Amino acid sequence: MTFNPLQERGIPLDRQLRNWRELNVAPIDPDRADPYTRCRIITMNGIEIESIMFSHHFARRCPDLEVRQRLAEVRYIEAQQQKAVNWLLPGLASVLETTLAYEQVAVDLTAWVARMEPDPYLKQAYQFGVLEDFDHLYRYANLYEMIEHRKAEKIVDQLTEVMPGRPTKMHHRHPVDNVREHYDRETAQAISKLHALTVMSAEQQTMNFYMNVGPMYMEPIARQLYQEIGLIEEEHVTHYESLLDPGESWWEQWLNHEYNECYLYHSFMETESDPRIRAIWELHLNMELEHLRIAADMFRQHDGRDPEQSVPRELPKPVTFEPNKEYLRELLATQIDYTTLGTGYVQEAHERFQRWQEQLMGGEEPPSERVIAENRAKSGEEYRLETEGTHPLYSLRTH
Ligand SMILES: [Fe+2]
Ligand SMILES: [Fe+2]
Ligand SMILES: [Fe+2]
Ligand SMILES: [Fe+2]
Repeated sequence: MTFNPLQERGIPLDRQLRNWRELNVAPIDPDRADPYTRCRIITMNGIEIESIMFSHHFARRCPDLEVRQRLAEVRYIEAQQQKAVNWLLPGLASVLETTLAYEQVAVDLTAWVARMEPDPYLKQAYQFGVLEDFDHLYRYANLYEMIEHRKAEKIVDQLTEVMPGRPTKMHHRHPVDNVREHYDRETAQAISKLHALTVMSAEQQTMNFYMNVGPMYMEPIARQLYQEIGLIEEEHVTHYESLLDPGESWWEQWLNHEYNECYLYHSFMETESDPRIRAIWELHLNMELEHLRIAADMFRQHDGRDPEQSVPRELPKPVTFEPNKEYLRELLATQIDYTTLGTGYVQEAHERFQRWQEQLMGGEEPPSERVIAENRAKSGEEYRLETEGTHPLYSLRTH
């Protein structure tokens, strides 16, 4: 069945406001929920936060009072959606448990996008990035075992493997080398634009999360690890945002944002295992259809173009959370030693990379290395979850 969000009718904007009772969502059960339900919640929280912040930036650059008022009206609803979505997370989960879920999102969402992306340059950007968040999951899992005495499989279940990726230590690049070439808005496929916006939004929310929750731990190693990985998420936001064409007008960006919200809520409505949560995805989809109609009207008026020239007439195949174990093992076996030079990728550590590394490390091992050594000393061995056999690289096996 085809679904063209530009042709569907949603809920009129003046009927989208929710009262306290309607906003007061019951959180998911941390012990029984499908880990991928939690991943969908975290993804949509990142998407809603991006839509709010995008709308604020647009409003700050927009001299037209009527447009600013329209933006404020839609943005308030986005803010309610963000509350309804993020408040589905249980207060019972620790910050570190939520962190493990954030990295699981980064792994399985980015791997899925990499598999589906048709443009080879963009695909390479996702393949490159995913091996880093894969390693973050492993570092945080060891921190979790060390300070909370629990195993990360409690969070990720058996869906995502936990083992070394590209070592976190090697993610600290000169900022110049984090800027990629952008797609061309005239020639890029619509799905490529949606992928870039989705992954950028998810990484941006991870960056925001670590910069705020990092100092909430007492243990020095935890505080330090959040600082280190928080800085890498800054690099990841730079990496992914640079894929988007900066030549898109504000109207076109607004259109793409609303379209992407429709696409993702529709995807998650189609793939959600929990009926109560599915009903929320469906409600939000019906709100987004109206946001999209408003953004499409504005696009027609101010850009003088037909929205169907910019976004697809039919929603692409649903974004799906599913295991990507074999795909990740293949990337580990072939791309683990990649780094970036300018806007491209290389396999050798170049001079600018070395210089940055020396200054940042200051002659010491970074927290991401110490956390593994400390957990080995404390727990007897490091934490891994290798459900498909030993590590694909011989040098990264536990001997
Ligand atoms: Fe929204
Ligand atoms: Fe990460
Ligand atoms: Fe990341
Ligand atoms: Fe929206």
